[in-house]
Amino acid sequence: MAIVVVYDSIFGNTAQVAKAIAAELELTHTVKLVPVGEARGIDLSDAEMLIVGSPTRGFRPTPLVSEYVEGLEAPSGIAAAAFDTRLDLETIHPAPLRWVVDAGGYAAERIAAMLERHGFVLKAPSAGFLVGGTEGPLNAGEIERAKAWAKTLIA
Ligand SMILES: Cc1cc2nc3c(=O)[nH]c(=O)nc-3n(C[C@H](O)[C@H](O)[C@H](O)COP(=O)(O)O)c2cc1C
Repeated sequence: MAIVVVYDSIFGNTAQVAKAIAAELELTHTVKLVPVGEARGIDLSDAEMLIVGSPTRGFRPTPLVSEYVEGLEAPSGIAAAAFDTRLDLETIHPAPLRWVVDAGGYAAERIAAMLERHGFVLKAPSAGFLVGGTEGPLNAGEIERAKAWAKTLIA
């Protein structure tokens, strides 16, 4: 029984978060870390949990992540969780634009909703990890926060 972590990443930040989550879970579980481009063939029938991560782009996941999740059928209501990376609102100028970005929503909540619609059982609230600009880097402490979030998934 493996935990499968599927992610997309354009600039590498979401990949870093996915790797940190996988490393934390590997302390106690078998983990498969899979870029979304290679995920379609993965058999989930024996998976313990599916974790899906994406950068937030235009308030939503990348098209590859959306296509992947929309194409899934949960074999027997297996556990799942979603995360994203997103801009730190403090770094967005002018300030009124922060409201627009925040109101638009984020990838993780959309992935979580899609997973539920496809029969997965959400294991924890989705999580967003902050980057300081479009290309990153991740804010200080976000890798540790990702590991802490991963622990809640198997608690
Ligand atoms: C075209 C584009 C759209 C974006 N849209 C959003 C958005 O709606 N909300 C947000 O918080 N960040 C947005 N961002 C910032 C991304 O979330 C950021 O580039 C991403 O977290 C970096 O992850 P990656 O290194 O894995 O690609 C956008 C970035 C790009 C390039």
